[in-house]
Amino acid sequence: MEIERVLEPADEHVEVFRRLLPQLSSAPAPDVATLGRICDDRRVVLLVARLDGAIVGSLTLVVFELMTGVRAIIEDVVVDEEVRGGGVGMALVSEGLRLAAELGARSVDLTSRPSREAANRLYGRAGFVRRETNVWRYSVTS
Ligand SMILES: CC(C)(COP(=O)(O)OP(=O)(O)OC[C@H]1O[C@@H](n2cnc3c(N)ncnc32)[C@H](O)[C@@H]1OP(=O)(O)O)[C@@H](O)C(=O)NCCC(=O)NCCS
Repeated sequence: MEIERVLEPADEHVEVFRRLLPQLSSAPAPDVATLGRICDDRRVVLLVARLDGAIVGSLTLVVFELMTGVRAIIEDVVVDEEVRGGGVGMALVSEGLRLAAELGARSVDLTSRPSREAANRLYGRAGFVRRETNVWRYSVTS
């Protein structure tokens, strides 16, 4: 398995996210222009996992500097249901954490609904510790 950073999104990536994104979210799958904007953003690292040449999973790392330090968040972690349970998720998270450290982040945050049992187990195994905090969201669109 290889983990690679997407630098120049192509049709292959559009096809892959058309399959992967519905396994994570109801958001519409990105077109190549959207993926291009994401990858052009120097704060964003879009990682994909390849198994026998095919992309089977993805993770997005965002690293940004604030007055209080360099922070990182992990979002949009998804592995194709066909290959789950084989360590792809852990490989993506491990590489995300390695890159976050390399980019100077002092911490890496993520959120995951309790119903996402495999994900929550994975994050615990990877070394994340649950924080006592309230997660708030203001919905701009109703
Ligand atoms: C969470 C997710 C990314 C994990 O990917 P993965 O490649 O299966 O991850 P791993 O193989 O490294 O670890 C998965 C865990 O599920 C277990 N597992 C075994 N068979 C499995 C199967 N058929 N399906 C799912 N998980 C399985 C693994 O053994 C491991 O359990 P453990 O933590 O108790 O050891 C994947 O399940 C997924 O994409 N889920 C839907 C989207 C989602 O919830 N994303 C997270 C958003 S916060």
